[in-house]
Amino acid sequence: MTGTIDISIDKIAKSRVEEYDVNNVPFGKCFSDHMLVAEYKDGKWQTPYITPYRDIPMSYAMSALHYGQAIFEGMKAYKNENGQVSLFRPLENFKRLNKSALRMAMPEVPEEIFMGGLMELIRLDSAWVPSSETGSLYIRPFLIATDEAIGVRPSDTYKFVIITCPAGKYYSEPIKVLVEQTYIRAVKGGVGFVKAAGNYGRSLYPTRLAQAKGYQQVIWTDSETHQYVEESGTMNLMFVIGDTVITPALSDTILSGITRDSVLSLARDWGYKVEERKISIKEIVEAHKNGTLKEAFGCGTAATIAHITAIGYEGIDYQLPALEDRKFSPKVDEHLRNIRKGKTEDKFKWMMAV
Ligand SMILES: Cc1ncc(COP(=O)(O)O)c(C=O)c1O
Repeated sequence: MTGTIDISIDKIAKSRVEEYDVNNVPFGKCFSDHMLVAEYKDGKWQTPYITPYRDIPMSYAMSALHYGQAIFEGMKAYKNENGQVSLFRPLENFKRLNKSALRMAMPEVPEEIFMGGLMELIRLDSAWVPSSETGSLYIRPFLIATDEAIGVRPSDTYKFVIITCPAGKYYSEPIKVLVEQTYIRAVKGGVGFVKAAGNYGRSLYPTRLAQAKGYQQVIWTDSETHQYVEESGTMNLMFVIGDTVITPALSDTILSGITRDSVLSLARDWGYKVEERKISIKEIVEAHKNGTLKEAFGCGTAATIAHITAIGYEGIDYQLPALEDRKFSPKVDEHLRNIRKGKTEDKFKWMMAV
């Protein structure tokens, strides 16, 4: 169900879009005219509303700030050459948000509020969607606990909000990554498989340490042995060894990325052998030594594909083949871009027009 619902709309008196070149704005700092808000109280969701983008009136005792009941999503809208705006697999973000909500003891957001509100908001702010080749409108839905109360227990009140910001020309630089063997992102039975705000807070310090050593990102490993690779930064990880595309199997320590799923679908469709399983760092080093490690990359909504140029492990930087020698990841990157921009057949029906 993605139809319309009752939403009260308070339009901005004069759009701010003219003040910006949406194709050339720094990412994440300039927010579009409107936002969607839906409040949960007295055990039910209230009528959502769209209002001009603004600050939240909040108490310093707001429970999300103290006990971390805060979850979010990240997705994008694209504009094709004819000016048509479409979303990439939005229902997957909707489902994942509710998976996060369940794990964090928060109320699930009804589909008509998430999808109906999203459609209405993007339609209203369509002038903010960049038209450049690699531009998009980044969409940030989030759900926070709003009780004014100290005390560890699930909040009784929540706010579901969607804000958006243009992501102008987005270039993802190739990255050098360090296999993390001290700190962890996620543990069995924990919340690594959902988008809980705390997952990101805890990743900052180890990432800062890796950056001080000259790496852009870490490769997270399993919490018990540090022998198996899981994700890189906020991306899922993929390797091409020989002719096989290999990625860590999903578990409760790995976020089920929508880009990951899309890359795997394309790989299978193109006849690649795909394996979703545990991958040890030893296997990667071995494949590097015998010359079968062809590609390594991270994948996620922000960058789509981030090519990995070197993997640091136990004091050695294992260099990967030059980008021009890679066959799979540049092709999948371009193909996804073309689907999003309406330049190639959308075989899997991933795009949803707003
Ligand atoms: C920890 C983590 N892994 C992987 C991803 C990639 O997921 P997606 O492709 O849905 O953006 C993200 C981004 O959402 C993430 O935060």
